[in-house]
Parts: sequence; C-alpha cells; structure tokens
Amino acid sequence: METIKVKDKEFEISIDANTIDAAIQKMAVEINHDYEGKHPLFLAVLNGSFVFAADLIRKITIPCKISFVKLSSYSGTASTENVKELIGLSEDIRGRHVIIVEDIVDTGLTLDKFLQDLEKLLPASVKLACFTFKKEAFKKSFRIDYLGITIPNEFIVGYGLDYDGYGRNLPDIYKIVKS
Ligand code: IMP
Repeated sequence: METIKVKDKEFEISIDANTIDAAIQKMAVEINHDYEGKHPLFLAVLNGSFVFAADLIRKITIPCKISFVKLSSYSGTASTENVKELIGLSEDIRGRHVIIVEDIVDTGLTLDKFLQDLEKLLPASVKLACFTFKKEAFKKSFRIDYLGITIPNEFIVGYGLDYDGYGRNLPDIYKIVKS
C-alpha cells in the first residue's frame, strides 16, 4: 500500500474523505433531530477538532451557536497522564444545551476532566459529539452521544489530527505504519 511521510514517520490510508463525510452526515441528521427548538451551543475543542467542527456545523440546519475552547495534553504519539485545564471559554453556558465537539477520544482522560469542569458552570445539558473513538484505549466511562467512527488503538493523523503539529491538513485519515 502507498504510504506518506509525516515528519519522520510513515502512514497509510485508514479512512478516506468520502467515508468521513458520510459519517458526519449521519451525526448531523441525529443532532438536527434531537436539538430541534433547543438552540444548542457547540463547543469545539481545539486544536484538533477545527476541521471536523467546520464540516459538522455546515450540516446543522437548526439555529445554533459555536464557540471554541482549548485544552491539550498530548505530545508525540503517546497520551500523557498530565491533563491540562480548560482555557478560553468566553460564552456563558449556564442554562444552555451544550454539544462538545471533539476529533478523537483515546484514553478519555482529557474529556473526563473537561466534562467535570463544564458541569460546574451549570449548563442545561451536555452531550458529546466525537468523530473518532479508540474504544480499546478508553479508560473512563462517559458516554459519547454522537459518534462518527470507532477505530483500532493505532496512532492516526489527518483531518485535523496531528503528529507533532504536522498532518492536520490531510483530507483523509492515515494510520501509522508499524516498523
Ligand atoms: P485522551 O485524553 O487520551 O482521550 O487524548 C485526547 C487527545 O489526545 C486528543 O484530543 C488528541 O489531541 C490526542 N490524540 C489521541 N490519540 C491521537 C491520535 O491517534 N492522533 C493524534 N492525536 C491523538
């Protein structure tokens, strides 16, 4: 199979852009149905989710808002236990129906902490829309309400996801080639 190089590692195609688009369309149909009349606030978790958030929001047909927050806990290709704080939440989410938009859940440590921080701000409801999920790596118990694609426990890049900052621009998702 053809491989590409991102920084110093080889990757091969895992999920193509058409499959990504179809999965997001399904998620959007469900959200449009569930949030009719609720004026949800999408909270996209930067950096990785910017591509997914841009695609998802353009398939949302009900009135909604979107805002961006940042929390990062990752360097290289292994998730660290060092979970960082939520920064950059400028919206008042009290009484709002919040949908968190995330590109990937791996161990779940990052979002678990984020969900706890968010609950303290008294939103009316919080649901999670996540594009990819490494089920075998998941260590927590929170629910992913809208899920794109379950993936094996392999490092991936593309579609907003990076390897050391590189690869976010790739329209398809690639998995690492084990050497
Ligand atoms: P978690 O706390 O282990 O769920 O990791 C969450 C964060 O790790 C994600 O938001 C990503 O930034 C990053 N991450 C986890 N797996 C991958 C991967 O396969 N490729 C790129 N980034 C990843």
